[in-house]
Amino acid sequence: MASHIPTALTALSFLSSVASGLQKAQAAPAPAPPPSVAPPAPQSSSSTGTSSASSYAAQNPGTNNTTSTGSSSTSSSLCIQCHVKPKYTDGTKTHQFCGKSCASKVSSVKTGSGNTNSNNCTFCHNRPKYNDGTRTHDYCSKACAQNAKPQRKQTTSSTTTGQTCGAPGCTNPPHHSSDYCSIAHKTLAENLCLMCLQAPKMANSHFCSQTCIDDAEQKGPTILEVPLGHSTFKSVADQFKASWRHAGSTCPAVRRIYKIMMPPGKLANYEAYKAAVEAKGQFVAQGRSAGNENRRWHGTRRVCNLGDKGHTQFCSQSSCSLCSIIRNSFDITLWGKKTGWGRFGKGIYTSSTSSKSNDYSHNDCKSNLKAILLNKVVVGKGCKMLQDNTSLTAAPAGYDSVLAEKGGSLNYDELVVYNNDSIRPSFLVMYDEP
Ligand SMILES: *[C@@H]1O[C@H](CO)[C@@H](O)[C@H](O)[C@H]1NC(C)=O
Ligand SMILES: *[C@@H]1O[C@H](CO)[C@@H](O)[C@H](O)[C@H]1NC(C)=O
Ligand SMILES: *[C@@H]1O[C@H](CO)[C@@H](O)[C@H](O)[C@H]1NC(C)=O
Ligand SMILES: *[C@@H]1O[C@H](CO)[C@@H](O)[C@H](O)[C@H]1NC(C)=O
Ligand SMILES: *[C@@H]1O[C@H](CO)[C@@H](O)[C@H](O)[C@H]1NC(C)=O
Ligand SMILES: [Zn+2]
Ligand SMILES: [Zn+2]
Ligand SMILES: [Zn+2]
Ligand SMILES: [Zn+2]
Repeated sequence: MASHIPTALTALSFLSSVASGLQKAQAAPAPAPPPSVAPPAPQSSSSTGTSSASSYAAQNPGTNNTTSTGSSSTSSSLCIQCHVKPKYTDGTKTHQFCGKSCASKVSSVKTGSGNTNSNNCTFCHNRPKYNDGTRTHDYCSKACAQNAKPQRKQTTSSTTTGQTCGAPGCTNPPHHSSDYCSIAHKTLAENLCLMCLQAPKMANSHFCSQTCIDDAEQKGPTILEVPLGHSTFKSVADQFKASWRHAGSTCPAVRRIYKIMMPPGKLANYEAYKAAVEAKGQFVAQGRSAGNENRRWHGTRRVCNLGDKGHTQFCSQSSCSLCSIIRNSFDITLWGKKTGWGRFGKGIYTSSTSSKSNDYSHNDCKSNLKAILLNKVVVGKGCKMLQDNTSLTAAPAGYDSVLAEKGGSLNYDELVVYNNDSIRPSFLVMYDEP
């Protein structure tokens, strides 16, 4: 068990050296604690260093050993914090960051709570670094190590050779034409707990244990990345594909999926509402889910880069509806403020058609991905309507929601609810620009 997860991680260690190099470079703008270090000279070393020194440095921010292998040519002209916006050039020199906001993010991580932060995964910053008994790795899991890989890198050569099975802790070589050494390990990787990414999840839960459930809930509001290849990724991406119905446009690829963790208590109101609707409508007895709960799409405005690679921090801009919804769920009192109310009045609008919700997904940020939310909605007894009624403020008497069906004035279906406890965001899905 000595050299565990070796290749996947070392191939990535250059990333962490970039990060640690950065943290040091950041000493300038903020009163950061570490002794000042020569900022990484605008390095054009083409090495994508895989030295263990770099990962050592990442784990030991107290040292100033920046084996400058990191500020590599692969990081190109993009800010090394957000990887999205171009680096700032002041006329004489190109800085490592796009602006002060990204620069301060790095230094605040640094200053945040001293060394304790360095115990967290270099990619998700959420889980402790993996320790195999002999050494501490840069990442919490193989899933994060995989995720941290530069995407555009050609994977023709050494990246695939010499890798180990993708299951946690397994050092066997992957079986030919698979990422895993065996069917059992493939199944394990497909069903990992979304919190620890180490143990298999329980049936009907995203987590392996009460400890992980509690951990994940305490972190709320937050988003937890679902590994590519996970059964949950497949289920959400499949729904996205199956419900892309716009003729003449091909369904874009789903690139990232995050499980949304609500703040503790936020789910309780939803569950209470669902139970009340179920008690009234007896949907389970009709072979449906409690409260006739369904998964529906919602597209909205994104101002920040939430959901892009490595971006799991919410912004605080009130114009960023995406962050607002994920943080606080939907609020009917805010909804429609900018656009005016919809065709079926003052409600929260979702659709079973991903390509319809895509029309409402707007980036007010630079990104090559678009964001969409998959939500749990208590449909209850839906009132089918073909004609608009913009004066509605509640579902018609005897109903829990409005189902605007295809036909009439509508090309695609809409589901409208009028109570903010009848819906909760469940997954954030990032996909290519159609
Ligand atoms: C940095 O650390 C590595 C490994 O600990 C060591 O081999 C190297 O000599 C160090 N470099 C400097 C400049 O201290
Ligand atoms: C940091 O760098 C300075 C200058 O190169 C050196 O004198 C000092 O010993 C280094 N400190 C550590 C902890 O490596
Ligand atoms: C590091 O992980 C711990 C435990 O999961 C968490 O409480 C803490 O907020 C994390 N630190 C950062 C900076 O995210
Ligand atoms: C939910 O709806 C009620 C009434 O419709 C409103 O007062 C409340 O502020 C809303 N928002 C949240 C986050 O609960
Ligand atoms: C629209 O809804 C309102 C409120 O429920 C109702 O009073 C009105 O009759 C409806 N209008 C039409 C045209 O159905
Ligand atoms: Zn991680
Ligand atoms: Zn294996
Ligand atoms: Zn777990
Ligand atoms: Zn935001």
